[in-house]
Parts: sequence; structure tokens; C-alpha cells
Amino acid sequence: MKFFLDTAEINDIRELAASGLVDGITTNPSLVLKSGRQFVDVVREICEIVPGPVSAEVISTDHETMLAEGRKLAKIAANVVVKVPLTPDGLKTCNKLSKEGTKVNVTLCFTPAQALLAAKSGAAYISPFVGRLDDIGTDGMKLIADVVQIYRAYAHIKTEVLVASVRHPIHIIEAAKLGADVATMPPSVLRQMFNHPLTDKGLAAFLADWAKTGQKIL
Ligand code: E4P
Repeated sequence: MKFFLDTAEINDIRELAASGLVDGITTNPSLVLKSGRQFVDVVREICEIVPGPVSAEVISTDHETMLAEGRKLAKIAANVVVKVPLTPDGLKTCNKLSKEGTKVNVTLCFTPAQALLAAKSGAAYISPFVGRLDDIGTDGMKLIADVVQIYRAYAHIKTEVLVASVRHPIHIIEAAKLGADVATMPPSVLRQMFNHPLTDKGLAAFLADWAKTGQKIL
């Protein structure tokens, strides 16, 4: 399973990319706002740090303007993936950009039917939002199960299932069990994945016993 970070915070990206665990980045207009940075500048900087796919989202809602924005964003760096919303104009734009050789991430997916439309539109990635579905009292992970099942039933579908709106490590584990291709997570969730109190306790005990041996490795 590939791990993307869902953030536009350069410090987090730099720190976690150095771990070798980060395969790509997703951003959205809300994350850009939070970063306080100029959109194009921050996307360019992220692309210099992370060689993998970096999603940058269009902000128009009509096909012609989305297309122009997508083409502009794609020119920022070779690893930019243009992100479009799951609307009729968004999918039309996805179709066109994909045919031009630009990778597209279709975002704001909440139903298997929407995911099927995105695949038919040539999306490189579909982003089903699990956390926002959980937030309204439905089962976000059921959507991942449905989309994975549908996509796997057709060998010609190459669209990758990118689990989005991740809130905690259990979302990652459940999505991995279902065979989702990618999970995009806030930096805090990736950090949480390292933790277990027995790891801390065990390490403290090993270090205490090692100190008693009086030995050194280096
Ligand atoms: C996906 O690419 C989105 O940026 C993101 O996962 C949305 O997550 P949220 O529901 O936590 O805002």
C-alpha cells in the first residue's frame, strides 16, 4: 500500500519524507489556506521534496476553466497530478486531461457509482472520503470495499483507489486489508502509526539492561 501525506505543510513533508515512508502528497484548497502559502509556490516546493505524485486541485467548476487550470498546474512539475471534483464538468475535464497524458485524481467521491464514472473517465486515482462518511453516521470503509470490488472485477480499470479523509490508523489498516492501493493521511496519523506503549516499555527495559552490561557497540 502506498502512503501519501494529506497536507501542504512543508516542514511536516520534509520531516516525514526523510523517513522513506512517503510515496506522494495530496493537497486541497483548505489545506493550502491552512498553510498560508501561495498555491503554485507551495506545490512547486512540495514537488521538489517528494518525487512521487503530488495532487493539486483546480478551483473552478466549469469544464473550460478547469481544463485551463489543470493544464497550468500540470506544468508546475512532472509529478503534479491534477485533482478535479466529482462533478459532470470535473469528469469531462478528467477525460480530456487523461487523454493529453496528465494524471488526474478525482476527489470528493462518496458512492460506488461515482467511482465507476471516474474510472470510465480515465482517472489515475479515485479519492473516496471515508472520514466524512463516518462523520454523518455511515460506514466509510464500506465504500472502499465496494470500489475495490468493482475495480478488481474489470482488468482494464487501472484507476487506483486512494483512500482519503483518513482520521486514524484503523482507517489505514482496514483499507489495507481491503487491498486499497493508496491511503492519504494527515501527518499526525502517520506519526500515530509508529506508537505502542509496549514498544516504549520494551525499549526502555532493553536499554536499562544494556547499560548494566557496561558494553558499547561504537
Ligand atoms: C483528499 O485528498 C482530501 O484532501 C482529504 O483527505 C480530505 O480530508 P478531510 O475530510 O479530513 O478534510
